[in-house]
Amino acid sequence: MDTITNGDLISTAGICKTYQQPDHAGRLVLDHIDFTLKEGEIVAILGKSGSGKSTFLRVVAGLTPPTEGTVTYRGQPVYEPAQGIAMVFQSFALFPWLTVLGNVELGLEALGVPREERRQRAIAAIDLIGLDGFESAYPKELSGGMRQRVGFARALVVNPDVLLLDEPFSALDVLTGETLRGDIEDLWVERRIPTKGIIFVSHNIDEAVAMSDRIIVFGSDPGCIRSEIQVPLARPRDWSTPAFRRIVDEVYTLLTTVPGRETTRRGSRVDQLSMQYRLPDASIQQLVGLLDALTIEPFNGRADLPHLADNENLATDDLMVLIEALQLLGFAQVGGGDIEVTPVGRTFVDADLLRRKQLFAESMMRNIAFIAHIRRILDERPGHSAPEGRFLGELEDHLSEEEAQRVLETVINWGRYAELFAYDYDRGVLSLENP
Ligand SMILES: Nc1ncnc2c1ncn2[C@@H]1O[C@H](COP(=O)(O)OP(=O)(O)OP(=O)(O)O)[C@@H](O)[C@H]1O
Ligand SMILES: [Mg+2]
Repeated sequence: MDTITNGDLISTAGICKTYQQPDHAGRLVLDHIDFTLKEGEIVAILGKSGSGKSTFLRVVAGLTPPTEGTVTYRGQPVYEPAQGIAMVFQSFALFPWLTVLGNVELGLEALGVPREERRQRAIAAIDLIGLDGFESAYPKELSGGMRQRVGFARALVVNPDVLLLDEPFSALDVLTGETLRGDIEDLWVERRIPTKGIIFVSHNIDEAVAMSDRIIVFGSDPGCIRSEIQVPLARPRDWSTPAFRRIVDEVYTLLTTVPGRETTRRGSRVDQLSMQYRLPDASIQQLVGLLDALTIEPFNGRADLPHLADNENLATDDLMVLIEALQLLGFAQVGGGDIEVTPVGRTFVDADLLRRKQLFAESMMRNIAFIAHIRRILDERPGHSAPEGRFLGELEDHLSEEEAQRVLETVINWGRYAELFAYDYDRGVLSLENP
């Protein structure tokens, strides 16, 4: 391939993606993504669920067309699945009626590779990925880790120039995922695969820092590039070194800081807030539990985020949801890889149950415009009640059906806890019991 590329493998310019939703206007999922993958790089993409990471990979792979903008691969525009780019998905997506060999060969069939060569290359890819001896096994005979190895073999058999990995380790248990990740890293470092660049979507911060040269953090609503962090650590990387931990801390901070929160915490009035429709679906029990834990030993009001995750035995994702909620409510602040309980948060912890409910209600009214909006409508309506469908409809103008449903559940749970409103489960009606 003799194109002039300045060492850029993939380059995207102004990529936007709008999904058409049934009977709603289009929803912007990616907002002007300018991104470059250079030769020799592994780039990790981190971001909240729904921030458009998978969509972005699919656009880069040529599996989904962007609504606006262009993708180029080695200087050539990508309009359809490009030869030279291979993708590995989170779920294994193997054909159960084909053997390991059959599944791996499949990647070559589409390329019109002759039968004998197909077989040889598939066997070589199976060897490379450590599945030697399992050529004639069927997927159901394999463990999850081995199935994902087949997924990798199927991508590697085409000798991809660029590999796109969409959370390929997250469906595996921790140890299995870590082993496979290490094996892929070895193949890369030892140049046993011809691949020149990797884009790697992950939910796991340690994994991203271990694996990549650069981390892109996606923001949500709509998906965009929020920040970029270099990972200038030599390989193999030792997870316990201060330099490694420092980068992990930095990424944690970026991921858990809610942008724009600063402006809302100064007691500004709710109707001046821009309406935020997506709410972290944190359970009250977990929220209160975490806040309580934060104020006692060993943290005493301030915790290093990775340390907190360990101590509370929480997955990064679950912790992020809780921390986003605590920040949204003004109960905690994040900075420099640490979380700190605010004075309001401390007052909450020290209060009895009744006072806690009041403080929670006040926080929600002050900080969460959508909840204040619901309360206002219930206050104003003659019967002080409204069907949940009314609010669900509003959410669905901004979120997918599934997300809208989830947000409404969170709103109802939080609102009921704080006794801001009551909810009749059978009739699906929100109301003020004692208006
Ligand atoms: N085919 C589709 N049609 C309509 N909406 C879609 C479609 N695919 C994804 N979306 C929506 O686009 C948004 C981004 O989805 P995407 O799967 O890219 O996010 P993600 O960052 O990969 O999330 P996760 O971390 O959960 O995998 C989501 O709100 C999702 O509901
Ligand atoms: Mg995804």
